[in-house]
Amino acid sequence: MGSPFYVTTPIYYVNDVPHIGHAYTTVAADALARWRRLWGDDVVFLTGTDEHGLKIQRAAEEHGVTPKEWADKTSERFRETWELLEITNTDFIRTTEPRHKMAVQKFLQRVYDNGFIELNTYEGLYCVACEAYYADDEISDGNCPVHKRPIERVREDNYFFKLSEFQNRLLQHYTDHPEAVQPESRRNEVLGFIKGGLRDFSMSRTSISWGIPLPWDESHVAYVWFDALFNYCTAVGYGTDEAQFNKYWPVNYHLVGKDILRFHAVFWPAMLMAAGEAPPQCVFAHGFLLVGGEKMSKTALNQIAPADLVKQFGVDGFRYHFLADQRFGPDGDFSFESMVSRYNADLANNYGNLAQRVLAMTERYCGGETPAARADGPLKSAAEQAFIAVVENFASLDFPEVSSAIARLIGAANAYIEEQEPWKLYKSEETEKVFTVLGDCLETLRIVALLALPIIPNASTELWRRLGIDTDIDQERFPEAAQWGRGPSGTQVISGDPLFPRLEVS
Ligand code: MSP
Repeated sequence: MGSPFYVTTPIYYVNDVPHIGHAYTTVAADALARWRRLWGDDVVFLTGTDEHGLKIQRAAEEHGVTPKEWADKTSERFRETWELLEITNTDFIRTTEPRHKMAVQKFLQRVYDNGFIELNTYEGLYCVACEAYYADDEISDGNCPVHKRPIERVREDNYFFKLSEFQNRLLQHYTDHPEAVQPESRRNEVLGFIKGGLRDFSMSRTSISWGIPLPWDESHVAYVWFDALFNYCTAVGYGTDEAQFNKYWPVNYHLVGKDILRFHAVFWPAMLMAAGEAPPQCVFAHGFLLVGGEKMSKTALNQIAPADLVKQFGVDGFRYHFLADQRFGPDGDFSFESMVSRYNADLANNYGNLAQRVLAMTERYCGGETPAARADGPLKSAAEQAFIAVVENFASLDFPEVSSAIARLIGAANAYIEEQEPWKLYKSEETEKVFTVLGDCLETLRIVALLALPIIPNASTELWRRLGIDTDIDQERFPEAAQWGRGPSGTQVISGDPLFPRLEVS
């Protein structure tokens, strides 16, 4: 087994059904997981659903079912969506599972025994949609600053987590590990927040019962975020399998939206420190996918279901669009028109066209048998540069740059064909030259299929088959597999329908 690599998505609230904002994070995590597998890593890729707390309790009440019934139903919707999008998560956690309850209780007891939890009275403003308290000075018009909905005043005897004691340790941690929050702008935001002073926060509730009871005082349930964040540890064996936990913890990447950065980059590392565990190696926060300039939400009625787009663009077209179109960091606007034009330009015209014409010419001019690539053809350096760029940009989760590097390589092969005009060479019976051009293009296609596999897995697998390569593309390993000239010659190609049929918008 290769090096352990652990990547997570947030666990999604089951008050909502999956939309393209959720899919965006999950597809990005999937691309990263698939990429690391190509390097032979032993990948754990976790996603799941967040099922406790007031928000879920109320959603269930509105629908006249128990919270568990509600969670069962909605959690399944997430599972189905990830299957549809060919997400290769190795685990799917639900916070209502017994394994999670047991792990959270062990963790809570540890933090309590270490003296970082104490009983106090809390009176404050609470937003149910955020499942978070706000200070009076953060609220101006009686509404939550995120959800713009009325905020509630609550008074409870709560246990408090002594976050204030972690200010210096957190600052030290982020000084020693500047890569631990990315991108840079988010790191600055986190540092600013920590430097502004950390307040202890309430980590239990008596007003609701839909949660995990505190092991030393069962009249309280754990605050939903305290319970939810711990899913990342439960899934790799905290409290049940020490060897497994030590193997995968600390996690390599938590991919999160910018709205939950504070929870992941301030509260969570402090909670882990309080239990004597290491903080995450990297919390990477991305921006929002906006529709018409607004965040998708149930109240705005602007949510787009992944399945609706998959029907038109296919799984690959869906995955490609969100990864290629939006930098993993800033906000980005979704538009159907730009999805169509990107699909047609990059997939149908550039990638699909290259595959189609090279395979068809190999059938026509070489009897379908693949000629060998030259040891030093002009596409060799283009392929090497593409590989280097893809490696670099995967390291910084710059998916649009990964996509551009692959597109440049495809473009170079298309340009090479235009320049060499193999159809003319064939007519003038310069067979050797035809073989040379097509050999190099076929080798380029093989490398493109590999580099694009994490983003568009189906087309890559299909192209691999059409190239007549009889090994399983998933078993290929970098860096060797990306070396120019590794592709077999003398295999039999299959040309077929276009990999990416052009889309017409009506
Ligand atoms: N349950 C918490 C996370 C707990 S993790 C221990 C939660 N769930 S959520 O379903 O509301 O959101 C999950 C993720 O989806 C967040 O990272 C959020 O930013 C992301 N997105 C929700 N809508 C989004 C967009 N419109 N665009 C991009 N991501 C968005 O928060």
